[in-house]
Amino acid sequence: MELISSSQEDTKKIGRAIGKLLTAGDVVCLYGDLGSGKTCLAQGIIKGLDVAEDKYLRSPTFTLINQYKGRMPACHLDLYRLDNINEIEDIGIEEHIHGDEVVIIEWAERMERLLPEKRIDIHISSININTRKIVILCPDNRFEPLSLKNLGI
Ligand SMILES: Nc1ncnc2c1ncn2[C@@H]1O[C@H](COP(=O)(O)OP(=O)(O)O)[C@@H](O)[C@H]1O
Ligand SMILES: [Mg+2]
Repeated sequence: MELISSSQEDTKKIGRAIGKLLTAGDVVCLYGDLGSGKTCLAQGIIKGLDVAEDKYLRSPTFTLINQYKGRMPACHLDLYRLDNINEIEDIGIEEHIHGDEVVIIEWAERMERLLPEKRIDIHISSININTRKIVILCPDNRFEPLSLKNLGI
């Protein structure tokens, strides 16, 4: 399915709605150019997982992994600065991915061979300075009810 966001706030709203529909063990892969809005969407998703306000992620571009306690345990990986896949194998990425945590991964293509087959892929692309296309690919239909109208956008 596909959603159009017209602002950073809309992207956060969309992320929050996605987060509300996640369940334990979900792996959410975010793809898109630098500045497309992956971190912004991830912030919304984390909010939708009911992570306490003071535990929201900021810009984790310099940190490989951040962990959160929300409705269920969650972690957020940003692989932008990943030089070698060993770096994430060393932090035990397989256990995160195959456990009960919700795992959100920016630049997921950088660990393609470690990604589970059953996952949620989200592609974000810039249409213009404030407009983003958000395409959600999910093996089940849970996101189908999401529409801009339902989100109050
Ligand atoms: N509709 C939108 N959705 C998300 N970000 C937007 C949007 N319009 C403009 N922006 C801007 O684009 C940038 C997205 O940054 P960020 O989320 O860090 O991207 P990424 O993590 O993909 O590199 C921010 O500066 C944000 O203000
Ligand atoms: Mg980012």
